[in-house]
Amino acid sequence: MGAGIVEVFARGGVDVVAVEITPAALERGRATLTRSTDRAVTRGRLTAADRDALLGRVTFAVGLAALGEVDLVIEAVPEQLGLKRRLFGELDRICKPGAILATNTSSLSVTEIAVATERPSQVIGMHFFNPAPVMKLVEVIRTVTTSTEVVEAVEALCGRLGKVDVTITDRAGFIANALLFGYLNQAVAMFESRYVGREDIDAAMKLGCGLPMGPLALLDLIGLDTAYEILETMYRRGGRDRRHAPVPLLRQMVTAGLLGRKSGQGFYRYAGPGSSTVVPDDQTPSAIPVDGARPVARVGVIGSDAAIAGLGEVFAGAGYDVVVLPWEPEKSAGPGGREKSVGTGGLEKSAGTGGSEKSAGLEGLADVDLVVAAVDGGDLETVRALFAELDEVCRPGALLATTTGTLPVIDIAMATRRPADVLGLHFAGPAGPAGLSAEVRPVVEIVETIRSSTEAVATARAVCAALGGTGVVCRDRAGFVVNALLFPYLNDAVRMLEASYSTVDDIDHAMKLGCGYPAGPFEMLDLVGLDIALAVQRSLYRELREPSLAPAPLLEKLVTAGFLGRGTGRGFREPTAQPFSGRSGG
Ligand code: 3HC
Repeated sequence: MGAGIVEVFARGGVDVVAVEITPAALERGRATLTRSTDRAVTRGRLTAADRDALLGRVTFAVGLAALGEVDLVIEAVPEQLGLKRRLFGELDRICKPGAILATNTSSLSVTEIAVATERPSQVIGMHFFNPAPVMKLVEVIRTVTTSTEVVEAVEALCGRLGKVDVTITDRAGFIANALLFGYLNQAVAMFESRYVGREDIDAAMKLGCGLPMGPLALLDLIGLDTAYEILETMYRRGGRDRRHAPVPLLRQMVTAGLLGRKSGQGFYRYAGPGSSTVVPDDQTPSAIPVDGARPVARVGVIGSDAAIAGLGEVFAGAGYDVVVLPWEPEKSAGPGGREKSVGTGGLEKSAGTGGSEKSAGLEGLADVDLVVAAVDGGDLETVRALFAELDEVCRPGALLATTTGTLPVIDIAMATRRPADVLGLHFAGPAGPAGLSAEVRPVVEIVETIRSSTEAVATARAVCAALGGTGVVCRDRAGFVVNALLFPYLNDAVRMLEASYSTVDDIDHAMKLGCGYPAGPFEMLDLVGLDIALAVQRSLYRELREPSLAPAPLLEKLVTAGFLGRGTGRGFREPTAQPFSGRSGG
């Protein structure tokens, strides 16, 4: 990070004194800077002359004495409060009176660092993001003692460097890390408990949510030692939320020297220390095992018009014969009193290879090999009753799959007499099945219950591969992979807004510019639908009983008010008005 920050300033035309504590550490920093700028030249982003000029602006030195005449110091030493406080005490003695002292701390209290000096009004946080030369965001942290002139000077400097700043007050994890690290830690917990494999977690989040990297690959980039320290601090400072208590595996990996890219091995193995090239290791999955998969030629698709259009297109586009059946979830009228909710329209078109036909009733599914029921929105009793009926009409050996993102698949499976042939096929992504089209390569969570057969899972894997998508096998736990990792993060963003720590725009900006997310949390919530977010969050809370997973009250209130985002014209943003401030108390 230190070398990255040096590069940012030197690129911005600022003279930099790069200081380390030992000659060896200084050489490592110099090598990182040289490698990064050489790469930029190779890629044609920088001319050789500009690289030389950039490097010419950097003076390398061992020891703090070289900092006597600088106007601004940015500290990027390890995340330990005692170390940082000692360092700032020394900087205060060495640096000239007007110099601004900035810390790049990720989670420690800037205030506690500031008061270790005689100039707390000139101490500020400047938090950069990995890789510093690429990520546009700088979080500027003002403490209760930071002077307005210092804040304005640092904001102006960020602009000169081509960075976008978000100015906030001193709170554990600021914006981006406070929202990011709970998610990263939960991903490690999933991996540690063998709930889902390494590549599958990363593929699910990368492809399912459009994130630039999966969480385990990102931890390798950040450095597991740094991540561990940040989580420790967030746990202590941020209200002892168990989601921030570092997962034991993290500590073990740090102790074992598996620090990520910098040491050549973290969750993945790399070509060497400092390399970003992943090389295979004994955990790398071999070719997808599809042994035992049953042949699937004809697929039945049930759901809303939008869902059957999307799913039908994807299956027909992959060459399956598809029978579609409109189905709208109507609430059950209680046990034994369910209203019938299937069967509209007539047979539209007869099946051929890759063709699609519309069935008038469940009987049309008698000869399919796989049923995909897009039952999102249906309550458990309604969906169980549907599956009991499917079990009656479908031939033995046909797989019955539910796309539910919120209901326990085992409860649905046990409504049939073939629980071994029932599983979840959860089409991840903000729009779910309705967002699919022939062009989309879907990411599908294949949800295996404790009763699912290996044949059924192998069949589902083969079908996902035939769709050109990515199948991620996981167990039947609330939220599976994507929802369990994504929605608590979105809920945390709503809590942050509700606490008036920051604004809709700044939080969205921070996640897009600091972590490369395609959309900020409020953009995602408005896209997904606040009612759906609330339903998912409730299901997570119900199953895991973790107090910090309780839906944010503001989310509940917006849903009650009918502000659901997509489709209602208003969610956290509305087209014609300012973004919702969260300060109305309602
Ligand atoms: N140093 C300098 N430049 C780098 C770089 C590095 N380490 N890694 C990548 N780049 C540059 C490349 O040169 C390339 O530039 P170009 O397009 O102009 O040629 C550009 O970034 C894209 O690189 P690649 O094509 O190699 O790879 P990707 O497109 O996959 O992008 C990535 C790589 C920018 C790292 C992207 O995956 C990403 O945005 N990941 C998310 C990173 C993130 O979340 N950061 C925040 C972490 S939290 C944090 O840092 C806070 C702290 O407190 C811990």
